[in-house]
Amino acid sequence: MRSFLLAGLAASSSVVGAAATAHAGHAVHAAHSSSTDSYDYIVVGGGPSGIITAERLVEANKKVLLLERGYGPTVATGANETLVWNNTLTNIDLPGLSADIGKLPQWDEYICTDTEGYAACVLGGGVTVNYMVFVHPPERDFDEGWPEGWKWDDVKAASERLYARNPGTIQPSADGKRYDQGLYTVLSNFFSNLGWTSVDMITQPNEKYQVYSHPAWNIKDEVRAGPVRTYLPLAETSDNFSLRYGTKVIRVLRSGSQVTGVEVENASGALENITLADSGRVILSSGALHTPRILFNSGIGPSAQIEIAEESGVTVPPKSEWLDLPVGVGLKDHPIFSIIVKTNGTYGLLDYAAIVNGTDTADIDLYAQGSGVLTEGKHRMIFFSSNNVDNQTRYYQGSCAPTDTDVVTITTYMTHGLTSSGVLGLNVEGETIFDVSPYLQTEGDREAATAFVQSLVNDITDPSTGFSLETYTNVSAIIGSLSAGMHYTTTTKLGTDDGRYNGTSVVDLNTKVYGMDNLFVVDGGIHPDLPTGNIQATIMVVAEAAVARILALE
Ligand SMILES: Cc1cc2nc3c(=O)[nH]c(=O)nc-3n(C[C@H](O)[C@H](O)[C@H](O)COP(=O)(O)OP(=O)(O)OC[C@H]3O[C@@H](n4cnc5c(N)ncnc54)[C@H](O)[C@@H]3O)c2cc1C
Ligand SMILES: *[C@@H]1O[C@H](CO)[C@@H](O)[C@H](O)[C@H]1NC(C)=O
Ligand SMILES: *[C@@H]1O[C@H](CO)[C@@H](O)[C@H](O)[C@H]1NC(C)=O
Ligand SMILES: *[C@@H]1O[C@H](CO)[C@@H](O)[C@H](O)[C@H]1NC(C)=O
Ligand SMILES: *[C@@H]1O[C@H](CO)[C@@H](O)[C@H](O)[C@H]1NC(C)=O
Ligand SMILES: *[C@@H]1O[C@H](CO)[C@@H](O)[C@H](O)[C@H]1NC(C)=O
Ligand SMILES: *[C@@H]1O[C@H](CO)[C@@H](O)[C@H](O)[C@H]1NC(C)=O
Ligand SMILES: *[C@@H]1O[C@H](CO)[C@@H](O)[C@H](O)[C@H]1NC(C)=O
Ligand SMILES: *[C@@H]1O[C@H](CO)[C@@H](O)[C@H](O)[C@H]1NC(C)=O
Ligand SMILES: *[C@@H]1O[C@H](CO)[C@@H](O)[C@H](O)[C@H]1NC(C)=O
Ligand SMILES: *[C@@H]1O[C@H](CO)[C@@H](O)[C@H](O)[C@H]1NC(C)=O
Repeated sequence: MRSFLLAGLAASSSVVGAAATAHAGHAVHAAHSSSTDSYDYIVVGGGPSGIITAERLVEANKKVLLLERGYGPTVATGANETLVWNNTLTNIDLPGLSADIGKLPQWDEYICTDTEGYAACVLGGGVTVNYMVFVHPPERDFDEGWPEGWKWDDVKAASERLYARNPGTIQPSADGKRYDQGLYTVLSNFFSNLGWTSVDMITQPNEKYQVYSHPAWNIKDEVRAGPVRTYLPLAETSDNFSLRYGTKVIRVLRSGSQVTGVEVENASGALENITLADSGRVILSSGALHTPRILFNSGIGPSAQIEIAEESGVTVPPKSEWLDLPVGVGLKDHPIFSIIVKTNGTYGLLDYAAIVNGTDTADIDLYAQGSGVLTEGKHRMIFFSSNNVDNQTRYYQGSCAPTDTDVVTITTYMTHGLTSSGVLGLNVEGETIFDVSPYLQTEGDREAATAFVQSLVNDITDPSTGFSLETYTNVSAIIGSLSAGMHYTTTTKLGTDDGRYNGTSVVDLNTKVYGMDNLFVVDGGIHPDLPTGNIQATIMVVAEAAVARILALE
């Protein structure tokens, strides 16, 4: 269990705007809410999906409670572990430190310990700790894997609403220059010699065959963007919005098909019930790896999983109320293959320690003017392509970042079009686990990945390039380097084939859980398919589209 769930001091949750609970490194303001209030909407999880959903509900004059199990990562949201040289910014705000995020103290503090795979238990969810790569989805991602009602024409307006607030950028430095371009120079030369095309991945999102681009990042005003900065402050201007930190939802409280509230483990470690207005609704936005646990704990999912939830100590509803839906079935992720290449370019790593301790004054002074390498993320180039095996087109993304002097690591994802899926379940400790791995389960995926890596390796090791492979020096070793893309989807699938009747879907086209009257899911879990690139922009587009459909139901 995360120690901070128990670490908070007792505080009054019923006094408006009063007392604060303490948490190492954070000044936490108690929300102006109490358990006797009742809400039009309770949104569970303050990741990108939950914040966007909650904010749009507040704009529609709803009374909304957002529950987040973690704490805020920015000064505005209560964090006080700031940079030694800028007391308005934390490590995670600074784009130039994102490359080193796994070594920052925030990593251990924020990464969840009760899921298999990677998720972040902090306000902003994965977007708070991720590498900021922001891939505007191509139209085909929706036209191919999503049902009628969720094609690109249906979600295009939602994407425009998102991009108006959170556009992403391939040019983050205020002076209009790009810094540290040695890697880009050597790789753009390589790809252009192969006949690939240079594109702007933001303005040309549909171009995904043999193309390369400067990276698009989730950066705005020279800091990490995302809904914590681009949506949450808008919600906070309304008295109808409350946010509670350190509040982990265990299950929804049900009266048959009606949800009446949620049971939480609160910041003092006690169980507490929070109630919903009579016509209220609960929206689960805890992420593809967490929302299934809340559903299992609430008697929704395969009965074997609900039985494990009960064994883990949760009070599940009587068996007569169990809803047999395929929660967790269909789990997908992008597999990553690491291709590490020694090149003849000239580039290296930034001195992260000197950025953290303030002695890198050249870059820090430039940053004070809104410019320089500290405004940039980790990667220096992103490429895309596809191949076809067994009449199935599968896409690939290569995210290229320096990992040593003159060495590039190409994080090679297999993306849209892959055919593998796995199963997410629960164990008796209450952790979500992979009962079946989502990676390379089909012969087609294995063949296609091998063929793509083989062709790239042939090009890289051609004597004319001056390149050589490091660490993984042949195709089978590269395929064996498989690691998690951390872009999990399809654990609470959206679709028209109702899972209660042998279908594969858990939520309907309005994101409402089949068999429930007022329970919804809006997060990566509902995506029926994987996008062509890194997923966060797609996650946000889908949240914008989903909340509009939920409001339209009233
Ligand atoms: C290390 C890492 C790197 C990544 N890199 C990239 C990248 O470069 N580009 C990209 O596009 N994508 C990246 N991703 C993926 C992307 O960040 C996620 O897909 C995205 O954040 C998912 O959004 P979500 O809203 O579905 O859920 P999440 O982001 O997982 O948010 C869920 C929220 O719910 C909260 N929560 C969970 N359980 C409960 C509960 N029981 N009660 C209350 N609150 C709860 C969590 O604390 C969290 O705030 C990365 C992810 C990780 C983990
Ligand atoms: C940060 O906040 C915590 C909790 O409120 C407090 O104990 C700590 O002293 C603060 N640290 C700084 C550097 O202000
Ligand atoms: C606050 O929410 C209530 C519904 O609970 C609504 O009637 C009221 O108009 C909202 N007020 C604002 C300012 O949004
Ligand atoms: C947690 O819930 C308990 C019991 O309902 C309550 O006494 C306590 O004040 C709550 N703590 C917080 C921080 O809300
Ligand atoms: C929450 O509600 C459930 C169901 O009504 C009840 O069994 C439980 O005791 C309540 N918990 C608390 C802390 O009030
Ligand atoms: C790397 O080698 C290639 C092929 O020999 C050459 O075209 C290119 O100019 C070299 N790049 C640098 C930066 O020396
Ligand atoms: C800061 O980090 C740099 C680079 O690692 C190191 O050389 C220097 O001694 C550090 N300075 C301080 C004051 O910690
Ligand atoms: C500190 O960060 C703020 C907010 O991004 C910025 O306006 C300011 O210029 C920064 N100061 C320095 C010294 O970098
Ligand atoms: C290949 O796929 C296309 C589109 O999915 C389909 O129309 C066509 O019939 C398939 N061809 C074969 C030989 O399977
Ligand atoms: C590939 O590389 C691995 C590890 O570097 C090595 O053990 C293996 O024998 C190599 N395989 C082939 C086919 O060369
Ligand atoms: C599900 O399919 C099985 C086997 O095809 C069948 O026996 C069962 O009646 C179906 N159940 C429902 C609820 O349709």
